[in-house]
Amino acid sequence: MSSIRQQLADKRQAALDGGGARRVEAQHAKGKLTARERLQVLFDPDSFEEWDMFVEHDCNDFGMEQNKVPGDGVVIGSGTVNGRLVFAFSQDFTVLGGSLSAAHARKICKVMDKAMLVGAPIIGLNDSGGARIQEGVDSLAGYADVFQKNVLASGVVPQISMIMGPCAGGAVYSPAMTDFIFMVRDSSYMFVTGPEVVKTVTHEEVTQEELGGASTHTSKSSVADGAFDNDVEALLQARRFIDFLPPSNRHGAPLRPHFDYADRKEQSLETLVPDNPNLPYDMKELILKVVDEGDFFELQASYAANIITGFGRMQGSTVGFIANQPMVLAGCLDIASSRKAARFVRFCDAFNIPLVTFVDVPGFLPGTSQEYGGIIKHGAKLLFAYAEATVPKITVITRKAYGGAYDVMSSKHLRGDINYAWPSAEIAVMGPKGAVEIIFRADRGDEEKIEKRTEEYRQKFANPFVAGARGFIDDVINPADTRGRICRDLAMLRNKELSNPWKKHDNIPL
Ligand code: HXC
Repeated sequence: MSSIRQQLADKRQAALDGGGARRVEAQHAKGKLTARERLQVLFDPDSFEEWDMFVEHDCNDFGMEQNKVPGDGVVIGSGTVNGRLVFAFSQDFTVLGGSLSAAHARKICKVMDKAMLVGAPIIGLNDSGGARIQEGVDSLAGYADVFQKNVLASGVVPQISMIMGPCAGGAVYSPAMTDFIFMVRDSSYMFVTGPEVVKTVTHEEVTQEELGGASTHTSKSSVADGAFDNDVEALLQARRFIDFLPPSNRHGAPLRPHFDYADRKEQSLETLVPDNPNLPYDMKELILKVVDEGDFFELQASYAANIITGFGRMQGSTVGFIANQPMVLAGCLDIASSRKAARFVRFCDAFNIPLVTFVDVPGFLPGTSQEYGGIIKHGAKLLFAYAEATVPKITVITRKAYGGAYDVMSSKHLRGDINYAWPSAEIAVMGPKGAVEIIFRADRGDEEKIEKRTEEYRQKFANPFVAGARGFIDDVINPADTRGRICRDLAMLRNKELSNPWKKHDNIPL
């Protein structure tokens, strides 16, 4: 008996040692934490329980039978984050570069299965050289098993990927299928083919960082939702982020203690919208002044900044915010912003998170680059996402709501539950100037007449009254009361029940 206990202790120690002191030192020298150190930061103290510490790979080729480390390069288990259950896997780069063997893949699938079974988020800490080269097709099969699990878990439990080291080749497709990807600046990268292959095939010279570093994926490709300076900051922000998420599609968003009055008036919002309709203002200010304690977790902040997406809380409950940003491209909808917002809306709807939309949109961005790029299909993604969403939907039009973009941005016509306008709202097919140039083409050149017609159009349509008269707007509210009204509406809508016709799945324009 004592010898079994001794063997257990030895194996445990071998697992904890990972690839050994030299490789741990190399990991630290790169500014990276080890797999277990990361879990310590991510989880509440002493809450993480590890499974499969004794799992070893079953490869006997290339001398691998002599190269076994208990745990096989990935730590799996569950614990609590701010008191709530979360499952995780953390790849250990010190063990064969965190490469994925068949056994390693089985461990990841096991923890994902458990997360789905009990209904709790799964977070993957990725730091891996990819498929375990010595295992050949067995490791490819392992990846495919993980991909399949990612797809089955999609929409069931929130899946978060932290990219904390290399992530290359087909391996990138597991994170790609999760809900959110966060990267660590300067120590993580993601690409399908690395710089060497790129050089051989396309003769392009590009560094690892340029090709797939955090700045590329947060500002150019939109693959990643955010980036942080180092492992510790990334993991602490992941803790903050998880706090916004419901555990699964069977549960509502968590209710957190809050210290903000529901009916807090925010007088400064009365002057947020400038008198001149062509001047920009910062829509983020509205979000920050409306949410509980000004706490807003923005996603994809450096990509398609003409639309803002992220989570906040209203009276302790998570809400998904989508808002046009007049500071960037006048807040218009284009390919990038439509895709960004559509994916966010669908996440919220899948996980029962109410949507609050702030609208100031002059329309879709015109031009050949948009049309050739397929703005029709991409814009339709956002339209589709809002239209199929059955969660509570509250919309506030702060200024412009023109044309098709008015319809798209969570309008009453797409089953918006409560649609407000501020007194500064203008709801029309287009802006007064553009409208007059079309309908009074004959008056072109006659500045006085055009001016008169424009004023006439402005008086008639550049206000919230026409939409209000038809019930497309439920009320015109004072900007200062925005938080109070939204809080009341969310409480009123808490037990909303709405479902779409039965179908195997829809066919969103991809
Ligand atoms: C087995 C691997 C490995 C791998 C790294 N190692 N990648 N072992 N399979 N895929 C081992 C190394 O032999 C080394 O072992 C240790 O991990 C650390 O690797 P280093 O090269 O010393 O580290 P570093 O210099 O930081 O470079 C990291 C790296 C590089 C850029 C990731 O290791 C690398 O290029 N690895 C190969 C990447 C690759 O081609 N993977 C297959 C991709 S195809 P020792 O014992 O010396 O510490 C793929 C397909 C997936 O993943 C398809 C899914 C559909």
